[in-house]
Amino acid sequence: MSRPASEAGQRSQATGWATAARELGLASGAPVNLGWHLADRICAAGRGGHPALLWEGHAGETRRYDFDDLRRRSNAIASFLAGLGVGPGDRVCLFLDRVPELYFAFVGILKLGAIVQPLFSAFGDESLQTRLEDAGTLALLTQRRHLGKVRRARERLPALRHVVVVDVGAGALQPGEVALDLERGPLPEAFEPHRAGPETPSILHYTSGTTGKPKGAQHVHGSLPAQYWTAKVALDLRPDDVYWCNADPGWVTGTSYGIIGPWSNGVTQVVLDAGFNAERWYETLEKQRVTVWYSAPTAIRLLMREGTELAYRHDLRALRHLASVGEPLNPEAVHWSRATFGRPFHDTYWQTETGCIVIANLPGARIKAGSMGRPFPGIDAAVLDPERFEPLPAGRVGQLGLRPGWPSMLRGYWGNRSAFDAKFRKGWYLTGDRASVDADGDFWFVGRDDDVINTGGHLVGPFEVESALLEHPAVAESAAVGKPDPVNMEVVKAFVVLKPGFEPSTDLELEVMNALRRRLSPLAMPQEVEFVPSLPKTRSGKIVRRVLRAREWGEPPGDLSSLMED
Ligand code: PRX
Repeated sequence: MSRPASEAGQRSQATGWATAARELGLASGAPVNLGWHLADRICAAGRGGHPALLWEGHAGETRRYDFDDLRRRSNAIASFLAGLGVGPGDRVCLFLDRVPELYFAFVGILKLGAIVQPLFSAFGDESLQTRLEDAGTLALLTQRRHLGKVRRARERLPALRHVVVVDVGAGALQPGEVALDLERGPLPEAFEPHRAGPETPSILHYTSGTTGKPKGAQHVHGSLPAQYWTAKVALDLRPDDVYWCNADPGWVTGTSYGIIGPWSNGVTQVVLDAGFNAERWYETLEKQRVTVWYSAPTAIRLLMREGTELAYRHDLRALRHLASVGEPLNPEAVHWSRATFGRPFHDTYWQTETGCIVIANLPGARIKAGSMGRPFPGIDAAVLDPERFEPLPAGRVGQLGLRPGWPSMLRGYWGNRSAFDAKFRKGWYLTGDRASVDADGDFWFVGRDDDVINTGGHLVGPFEVESALLEHPAVAESAAVGKPDPVNMEVVKAFVVLKPGFEPSTDLELEVMNALRRRLSPLAMPQEVEFVPSLPKTRSGKIVRRVLRAREWGEPPGDLSSLMED
């Protein structure tokens, strides 16, 4: 049987998080400012001189900041924003590459009590604009190189009052844009943090679903014990580790475990602001003497493709613990990692909505390659019957459900109560993933329960791609699905029905692709557009993407009885 939401489960839930809260000095109901905990608490504990951030830019430039630097720089950003009139509850977007200011601002915004909205700087016009509009964002921090996109988005965003540019250089600023130069400005020793309670909103992370616009998963300051504790227990972080998380903070992994987890534990972390390059990654692991590495299956598959020899040319003996998240970690990757690094990647499973790791192969546990592992102590997980939402026996595939109540669970989707309510049935939070659990209690990922495409660990909502396609004058209808890919697991493929008067051609395909590129992020870009005479639909006219998907994967399309005859 899958684990019942037993009393014992509830008790261990209380103990794990309670231990974390005790270690963090959190009293029940007392203020818990997440920003303060990531910097000032570490300094107050006498570790202000300990390195917090070992940063390297794409051109190879390096910087090193300790926790005192982090405290002062985040204070500077908090007081600068306060000076602009930004206050508690206001949404402040980070539209930045992985520059040091991104990390300082994240902490500073939390200190101020404003809500951080991190977005990938690679987002195109449409992706950026939709999310800023949805959140009613008041201020945005960016770099000069992204100002073009921000300016275009701003024309349609009356709520966006302040654009803060964090790098100096040529080019005049426009009204509503201000420069913030941390290297020259005052760096205050103290900033009175907002008295955030456990339920005070902290972060808005946008995530994609099948229907509708991307949704803003809203997190709270009281999530802290979950990220602190899971980073310590599941990622095995210890005070003198050098930790590297490959994720961008535009993605929840890059905040929960690329900022909150390590810094609340006072751990040094490495940031490489550059795209994937196997040689450079190994150099980084070697040079920084990384001890704990949190990566993703697509990156691991790319490394595998480069071969073991390349890894052997580097001294990676400092590596102690390896973990992975975002997509199914195939058994080959686990075996390869054992052979190459002398230790396996430990799969961890979670979501934007869970805020922390909920299923994991814990350090030291026996790994069944291909399994996600077991519920993190304190998490009650079960495989549920998709209709009755009751736990299924071992071996059966169903919807993966979690008992609500862990500290970092999302508290809602921004302005979208019905989408949030739809995530719960019979006291379970529904992950939207299909899984099974074996007789030992190990969980196995089967697939998504919806049409969301997971490409290289990034969720792409078909709706967003289809809406962008429909803006093209030649497109009458469209459907976006995932097609198999050896590295990214799946990539986006779009099916397009043309309007009368338009003929399929390579030129038209290129034109459609170019139009999409300006609107979407590179992650969501279709690799292929196929022109088709019609799309499979239900009798009520809903496009059935699963039929198209099954065709791409060479799988049976499932029940076709409700489809419209063409
Ligand atoms: O489908 C699951 C997949 O990624 C989804 C969550 O994506 P996101 O909200 O962007 O957060 C990703 C980082 C936490 C899940 O619903 N996923 C995540 N981890 C795994 C996974 N699929 C298989 N195995 C995993 N370990």
